[in-house]
Amino acid sequence: MAGSMNGAGKTNAHPHQSKIYSEFSRFYDKIFERIFFPRIARVIASLHIPFGARVLELGVGTGLSLSAYPLDCNVVGVDLAQDMLDQAAEKIRERGWHHIILRQMDALNLDFPSDSFDYVTAFHVVSVVPDASRMMAEARRVCRPGGKLVIINHFRSERPLIGPLVDLADPVTRKLGWRTTLKLVDIIEGAPVSIEQKFKTSPRSLFTVVIARNEKEIAAVG
Ligand SMILES: C[S@@+](CC[C@H](N)C(=O)[O-])C[C@H]1O[C@@H](n2cnc3c(N)ncnc32)[C@H](O)[C@@H]1O
Repeated sequence: MAGSMNGAGKTNAHPHQSKIYSEFSRFYDKIFERIFFPRIARVIASLHIPFGARVLELGVGTGLSLSAYPLDCNVVGVDLAQDMLDQAAEKIRERGWHHIILRQMDALNLDFPSDSFDYVTAFHVVSVVPDASRMMAEARRVCRPGGKLVIINHFRSERPLIGPLVDLADPVTRKLGWRTTLKLVDIIEGAPVSIEQKFKTSPRSLFTVVIARNEKEIAAVG
């Protein structure tokens, strides 16, 4: 599904790209929390996010991950779908969290200055947006030099039989809102990042965890 170009030549996601998530927002946690949360929690714990760190989560959805962040860091969660954010806002209200704020925003076109965050996380999002490379470029821009980019996603298998087999599901999953053909190399090739860790939390898991250091250069001052 193609995005559109705004006046500044940037790609914008269409609001309807998150429609399926809006429609399922009330059921999302019931279906996905048990599958997604343990892995997300394990990955966030492994980061040892320090006191006061600035964290941006792209495509935060219903806020399924939010309880995993330490209470002494500052988290901004963005998502295109307001209905998903409403579920996340409810969690924040119920738990009385003051360290998390939410904003409705297109991950392809982030409304933050460069170098605003120490960590940028994206769980199960990179194959949902219409332009994964654009999302990663925005993630690198708003992440400070030396900051961490943390991705959990399904990537196309490099195994000769599995890859083409799973490709067959792509027309169906696209209708549901995500691609099965995205390769890790598609989002990192040529980008100034170094992969520090790449692993699956279990041998048969469909999802890969990627923790990368943002190697972009420090902007010259003056
Ligand atoms: C599969 S859900 C993942 C939600 C959450 N990260 C999780 O792991 O449960 C994908 C999320 O990406 C959001 N999304 C899709 N396109 C987006 C965009 N261009 N910008 C920001 N969020 C987007 C959807 O609204 C949805 O909440």
